[in-house]
Amino acid sequence: MSNSLLFNNNATTYRISFVDQSLRSYSAASRHVFRSLSFSSNIHHKSLDMDVAAVEENRRRIIVKAKSNFDELDLDISLSPRVNAVKPSRTVAITDQATALVQAGVPVIRLAAGEPDFDTPAVIVEAGINAIREGHTRYTPNAGTLELRQAICHKLKEENGIDYTPDQVVISNGAKQSIAQAIIAVCSPGDEVIIPAPFWVSYPEMARLADATPVILPTSISDNFLLDPKLLESQITERSRLLILCSPSNPTGSVYPKELLEQIAQIVAKHPRLLVISDEIYEHIIYAPATHTSFASLPGMWDRTLTVNGFSKAFAMTGWRLGYIAGPKHFIAACGKIQSQFTSGASSISQKAAVAALGLGYAGGEAVSIMVKAFRERRDYLVKSFGEIDGVKISEPQGAFYLFIDFSFYYGREAEGFGKIEDSESLCRYLLDKGQVALVPGSAFGDDTCIRISYAASLTTLQAAVERIKKALIPLTSAALV
Ligand SMILES: Cc1ncc(COP(=O)(O)O)c(C=O)c1O
Repeated sequence: MSNSLLFNNNATTYRISFVDQSLRSYSAASRHVFRSLSFSSNIHHKSLDMDVAAVEENRRRIIVKAKSNFDELDLDISLSPRVNAVKPSRTVAITDQATALVQAGVPVIRLAAGEPDFDTPAVIVEAGINAIREGHTRYTPNAGTLELRQAICHKLKEENGIDYTPDQVVISNGAKQSIAQAIIAVCSPGDEVIIPAPFWVSYPEMARLADATPVILPTSISDNFLLDPKLLESQITERSRLLILCSPSNPTGSVYPKELLEQIAQIVAKHPRLLVISDEIYEHIIYAPATHTSFASLPGMWDRTLTVNGFSKAFAMTGWRLGYIAGPKHFIAACGKIQSQFTSGASSISQKAAVAALGLGYAGGEAVSIMVKAFRERRDYLVKSFGEIDGVKISEPQGAFYLFIDFSFYYGREAEGFGKIEDSESLCRYLLDKGQVALVPGSAFGDDTCIRISYAASLTTLQAAVERIKKALIPLTSAALV
């Protein structure tokens, strides 16, 4: 039986026919694929017929026949099982959706993005501009310039108490790349990657891309979303290869106290196969009295820890794309090998700018402390404001620029003209519809009870957002549970 859909591209309408009704659910994917097809093929016919057939399990062929005349394409449009297993980043999707609404004239307040609202400090910008003027515009060594790797080693020694030499550091196009390469470098198919939830959206997907299995360990808001060492101990198996720690945490803002990290280290030490990725990218965005401890600085942990950090968050350099990983040479060389085949060295200009960033002084000096002070004021305001809302539970974040709030009190309620609030996803849709505030559902981070609010926005914007959220929640508070 045939099934077909129509779509437009450059004012041309195409008809796509499916020969097999069982491939109905395939339509949306094909629509997407076909867009790229229409660009990649040089066919300019008014009408195309496409027969889609399952030629063998997991592999599908698409035959594009130009009805009017000459060309015929026979194209295998299947994707690798590896990529099929990966979910796209929900934070990126929601941010894009909110941006599209703003561009369409809807006054949405965007509190979904994980990026500081500040400009990159002027000294860093100048260093970038000078780098271009002075001709630092060529490839750098794959692992990054010696100048920047030396500056990173100095920083890690002075601020984190960890000793590395430049050949134990690889600089990448963002900490995201550093983490992905590390997971690919050390995991074998079937290995387990232990990830405490709530987690940064990319960790489990990166594990899947490496053919490893994410093992998610839940935490609770009443424990400030910190991992229970006993739970960790009970979940380690001979397949456990990596534990990923993130402190300060995205999405919860929790900071692991040194004592808890020491307990975790004692457990890790019993398992020779177990390595740790310590994602410290929010290190400088921390609110006293909380303090940051680098996992690699704990007794016995240097040999098995891959320390990840970067410039995006503390130095407001998200667009410069620069992060790094440090660890034992054996593992770091493997990360470098992957990078050498994927992307090579990071931007020469960004690396010059990063040297200036590290030159700003301890923990980023004055420039960073001004931003941290502003984040802290916003956190205090939000914790107080959301604390006044019925049924909401909060764990006061000690770092980063996110609040991860338990809104599950509102689930199961009927909203007039909207329907039932089922979960974090539908509550976020409701708040976007009714309050025009873009937030990220906790389900994206592995905890459906909560919603993430990024407070990388001015206090005035946050005040407006809180008002809108409170107003949108009023009818729900009195709504019956259904
Ligand atoms: C926890 C965490 N790690 C790593 C990254 C990646 O940062 P980048 O690739 O911009 O350096 C992010 C960015 O959102 C993050 O939140």
